[in-house]
Amino acid sequence: MQLIDYRLTDHISMLVRGKNYQSIWLDESDPSVVKVIDQQKLPFVFETKELRSVDDIYTAIKDMTVRGAPLIGAAAAFGIYLATLEITPASNPMQHLANAARYLISCRPTAVNLSIAVNRVMAELNEVKDEKELSSVALRAALQFCEAEKENCRLIGVNGLPLIKEINRKKKGETVNILTHCNAGWLACIDYGTVTSPLYLAHESGIPVHIWVDETRPLNQGARLTAWELGEAGIPYTLVTDNTGGHLMQHGMVDIVITGCDRATKKGDVANKTGTYLKALAAHDNHIPFYAALPLSSFDMTISDGIQEIPIEERDPEEVTHLSGLSGNDIVTIRICPENTTAVNYAFDVTPARLISGLITEKGICKPDEKEIKKMFNNIK
Ligand code: MRU
Repeated sequence: MQLIDYRLTDHISMLVRGKNYQSIWLDESDPSVVKVIDQQKLPFVFETKELRSVDDIYTAIKDMTVRGAPLIGAAAAFGIYLATLEITPASNPMQHLANAARYLISCRPTAVNLSIAVNRVMAELNEVKDEKELSSVALRAALQFCEAEKENCRLIGVNGLPLIKEINRKKKGETVNILTHCNAGWLACIDYGTVTSPLYLAHESGIPVHIWVDETRPLNQGARLTAWELGEAGIPYTLVTDNTGGHLMQHGMVDIVITGCDRATKKGDVANKTGTYLKALAAHDNHIPFYAALPLSSFDMTISDGIQEIPIEERDPEEVTHLSGLSGNDIVTIRICPENTTAVNYAFDVTPARLISGLITEKGICKPDEKEIKKMFNNIK
């Protein structure tokens, strides 16, 4: 295999106990191993995990060892690279890769980043004439995808920062209170995050911010992951139950809501973690701006109507009937309802464009409107 530099760029912004981390990288001593932070165990245990096969990647995405739309795209892109390493003399290489692509895309249905990332790497592989080059081409394409997503997230920060600055100016320098749902931080995005990117920039530039962190049942990505990230970065936050946002908004305690996105339609409807829609309704009722922060890789330009057309992942009801947390030194799972309770677990919901003030992307902020969104895509160099 042709040797290429498999390190992601030197600039890594996120510190964990004084050490720089991204949420996914290649093992420097063995570039056939993909390493990730185990997000199932955070914040109780900080552990990295080695993924060595397409099956490992599939399972890590499915069980949410890795999660968040941009990160599952990146993981799946690396999955195709690992698939090239699994080609045997007996297999038809392109058939093998096409099967791996289908398998990885089937992993989680809502975030479109997954298929966009896989298809981007596959498009490069389809151009390869010499089978010996499949691995190096796949690796380069996966790394390029990651680098691009990192840069996109950085730019989402640059583009989102003026919103926070303006609120701070209007409040005459007082703290800006921002409510977010789920985790759209660097853990979900390789680096910087989408929602957190402008928050980190605001904090770094001395604008006082305070974040209301929705716990985000059933898997508590807010309580476990956003709280942990913000704490590591020294950004003031307060954890609230998912149902508290309406009260906060009615009492002037929220200046802006910013959430992530798993799939946006060409008309600007946005699917994100279940409960996002209720926050948008409350924000609308209270005249509070509601923004979604997303890279262009979260747009599905083939669909218009999010409610009808975005596939909503239905996960194991046990995630609803049970809760995991720390007891002593052990992560334990407990049941929180009568035995044999019927539960249903829709993991995402759709916020219609009419409730959204704007979409913060790497190309700028646009209205959730077909013409404006298309302009963002036309801006791609
Ligand atoms: O089920 P998850 O944890 O993968 O859901 C994540 C979210 O809903 C995030 O808000 C979304 O992926 C955006 S991440 C930048």
